[in-house]
Amino acid sequence: MTEQALKALLDSMTLEEKAGQLVQCNAGMFIANELAITGPDGEPLPAEELCRVMGSVLTFEDAEQAKALQDMHLASDPKQIPLLLMLDVIHGLRTTYPIPLAMGCSFDDDLMTECADMARRESSACGVHVTFNPMVDTARDARWGRILETNSEEPLLNSRMGAALVRATQGDDLSNPENVACCVKHFAAYGAGEAGRDYNGVELSERSLMQDYLPAYKACLDAGARLIMPSFNSLNGVPSVANKKLMIDLLRKEWGFEGIVISDYNAVGELVNHGIAADMKDAARLAMEAECDIDMVQCAYYQHLADLVRERTVSEATVDAAVMRVLKLKNELGLFEHPYHGADEEKEREVYLCAEHREIARRAAEESAVLLKNEGILPFRKDVKRIALIGPFAEETRLNGFWSRPGAERYTVTLPEGIRNLLPDAELNIVRGCGANFEDTETAGIAEAVRVAAGADVVILAVGEPEDYSGEGRSRAELSLPGPQMQLIREVTAANRNTAVLLFNGRPLVLTELTETVPAILEMWYPGTEAGNAAARLLWGEANPCGKLSAGLPRSVGQYPMPYNRMNTGRPKPLPDDRAVPFSSCYLDMPNLPLYSFGYGLSYTSFTYESLITSERTLKENGEIQVTITVQNTGNTAGKETVQLYMRDPVASVVRPVQQLIDYRKISLRPGERAEVVFTVREEQLRFYNMEGREVSERGEIRLSTGYADHLILTESIEII
Ligand code: NOJ
Repeated sequence: MTEQALKALLDSMTLEEKAGQLVQCNAGMFIANELAITGPDGEPLPAEELCRVMGSVLTFEDAEQAKALQDMHLASDPKQIPLLLMLDVIHGLRTTYPIPLAMGCSFDDDLMTECADMARRESSACGVHVTFNPMVDTARDARWGRILETNSEEPLLNSRMGAALVRATQGDDLSNPENVACCVKHFAAYGAGEAGRDYNGVELSERSLMQDYLPAYKACLDAGARLIMPSFNSLNGVPSVANKKLMIDLLRKEWGFEGIVISDYNAVGELVNHGIAADMKDAARLAMEAECDIDMVQCAYYQHLADLVRERTVSEATVDAAVMRVLKLKNELGLFEHPYHGADEEKEREVYLCAEHREIARRAAEESAVLLKNEGILPFRKDVKRIALIGPFAEETRLNGFWSRPGAERYTVTLPEGIRNLLPDAELNIVRGCGANFEDTETAGIAEAVRVAAGADVVILAVGEPEDYSGEGRSRAELSLPGPQMQLIREVTAANRNTAVLLFNGRPLVLTELTETVPAILEMWYPGTEAGNAAARLLWGEANPCGKLSAGLPRSVGQYPMPYNRMNTGRPKPLPDDRAVPFSSCYLDMPNLPLYSFGYGLSYTSFTYESLITSERTLKENGEIQVTITVQNTGNTAGKETVQLYMRDPVASVVRPVQQLIDYRKISLRPGERAEVVFTVREEQLRFYNMEGREVSERGEIRLSTGYADHLILTESIEII
């Protein structure tokens, strides 16, 4: 459709029809399905009426439903404006790849691209027009259950992974039925909720917001994301969906965003709960004035927008601009000509869980696992005769994470299946031992686990956090392994030291006692469909662990918030970090540093960092230099290493972080092989926000280092002149 035709269409619409374009309903309102709704639902409304006027739908199941919804709507809409169909495809549709936090541990933008590409193929076949992805909220507190949905605590890693996902999902041309539009979320700083509680208010300095939280959203918009979702939380006193400073001054004016703003689930209506709107009508006004285009669920806009315009409280021009943005996206997706877009049942059968997709998911699961500890017992020998597989996750199928699509567990390759695929002749004894829920207190099964462990050549302890303990509305105050799992681990490890722990969880956990107890720990996160195959291949060395932590693991919940790029203080604690130093910034009862820092992860081989050389000693404004880091694989196995580049600005006009990641690259090295990794460092990467809020770099020393957070090595200085 031409721009002119779109304009004519808009001009022909009644106020109710316009308001309808700005409303999104749950597919469950029209088609019975089992999909969970993630928040309070709106007032019940006559379904036929809603179906006729509404502009978009979320949360449907498959191509058949997608087509049925579109048909149902078009059969009754006199204007023949197709529906936009949206779905949360967060880390795969039918073939599930690892949770985003795990994907961050791969430090591999290309792998993210491959995974997103696979999800795009499956989503488009399912009939998805828009995915509510990527989620790029910086998260520095693992009490927050949604930390699993972000790639990292680290803004650069989050930005690069998010942007890679957007590019792979949207492609170059949205009218191509295989491409899907992205909605970046949750704008802004949703991850910084007070006390780690979901939906909680956020109080954040302007500088921290700009430097740690905003860059990832901006990177995804720069990569072309067509939609953005304001966050549920209030930010410095104003809920995002009504936050004009954020949504208009920053997003529309400063960043020039021309796409669609869609509220989170009932977030417009929740302005009443926040206490900034008197009622739903007031809420609709506030959100519209902040240029929130679509109200997810039908409480506020559907019921009140038209009246607000009639009463001249909201200008029709504002509503028209919002409707136009919606019509434009529909047009760009080619929906007026092809309302089903890519929905195709045959294609679904072809691509869902196909061999190629499983292979990508397996590789992703392998590359995002982090080997936290290994006292020489891994990889296990392939000639083992008796394997004991113990723990509440031994036969678990729910290894996909909160945001996997419903039913994902039906397709999970379990641990026993993965082990048998690799070692069909070994004897495998499986004992659950105990449960992993908060309420589980039963320890009677531990004796049997100990007996089986004692008679085994190797023991795999599969422990973790139940899948629904992380995710939306899933904050925790304690981050220990729930239930009697620690007791199981203690007793089993005492019976057989040849024990490796496999961890399945959606957030950093406190592993202080675990680390002291067991000889080997492999953090698997929620690896997705290929969980069992990936775990077995890692345990037996068919794959070499190469993940690095995308968020540090604390020693105690009391350390939160615990960003790796913490600010310097006037009384920094002197190193080593092993005891309290009076009147320094420290705890009396534990070290300051995490148990395992950001960027940490072991391999079955060893890498030696030989040198870090800068091409110049000085750097001018807008200039660049090269930094060459030489790394050698000094072990006996081929492996991958993520070379990380950090900066520190030791003297500046405002306090700067003690370390900041400015680049990373993952490389593959054969035994004995050496590589020179060349990073280009641009002056603009070293900038920060000064007292006036301007992004600047200042003259003086900048230190460049490699290694990983809190363990920086080979530091060299350059000078900004
Ligand atoms: C609520 C969540 O916060 C958001 O991330 C999601 O996209 C919507 N519900 C839609 O399911």
